[in-house]
Amino acid sequence: MAGTGQEKLKVLIRRAAIQKRVREVAQQITKDFRSERLHLVGVLKGACIFLSDLVREIDLDTSIDFIAVSSYGKNKQSSGQVRLLKDLDSSIEGLNVVLVEDILDTGLTLTYLLRILQQRRPKVLRVAALLDKPSRRLKPVKPDYVGFRIPNEFVVGYGLDYSERYRNLKDVCILSLPPE
Ligand code: IMP
Ligand code: MG
Repeated sequence: MAGTGQEKLKVLIRRAAIQKRVREVAQQITKDFRSERLHLVGVLKGACIFLSDLVREIDLDTSIDFIAVSSYGKNKQSSGQVRLLKDLDSSIEGLNVVLVEDILDTGLTLTYLLRILQQRRPKVLRVAALLDKPSRRLKPVKPDYVGFRIPNEFVVGYGLDYSERYRNLKDVCILSLPPE
C-alpha cells in the first residue's frame, strides 16, 4: 500500500519475517511456562494483531484479556501522560501474566501498566513487545520477550498506527511525513 498524500511508506520488516519471529517468541513463552496456565494481556489497540498471531502459536492452557491506555494524541510525540481507557475484564491475582505490547518506545506506557498490574498481585508478570526502540527510552524498563529491535524511526503496520491509520498493513513500515 502506498502512503496517502505526501506520506511515504518504506518496508522495514516483511510479513514473512514477522511470522517467523512471532513463532519463535511463542515457542520461548511455551517453554518458559511449560505445564502452567498463561494469561495474555494485550494493550489495545496496537497489540491486537501481534497478540492474535502470538496466541495461536502458544501451546499452553491460555486465556486472554485486553487493557487500553492512551499515551499519544493524534501526532507522533508522546504526551508523557498515560490514561487508562479500558480496564481488564477479570482479576489477574495469582496468574502467570504476559503483557503484550506493540512497541516499547520511551517506556512511559509500560512503566505505568506494570505499576498498576503489579498491584493486583499476579504470580508472574512479564512483557512481550513486538518492537523495541531502546534508543528512545526515558524509563528503565526492558521487555522479557522482544520481536525486533529497531532504530529510532516512526513505524506503522501490523497493528501500529499513525492517527489510527495503517494498522492493516501486513509489513512493518517506516512512515515519513512531509515537513510541517
Ligand atoms: P512509550 O510509552 O513511549 O513507550 O510508547 C508506547 C506506545 O506509543 C506504543 O504502545 C505505541 O502505541 C506508541 N508508539 C511508540 N512508537 C511508535 C511508532 O513508531 N509507531 C506507532 N506507534 C508508536
Ligand atoms: Mg498507538
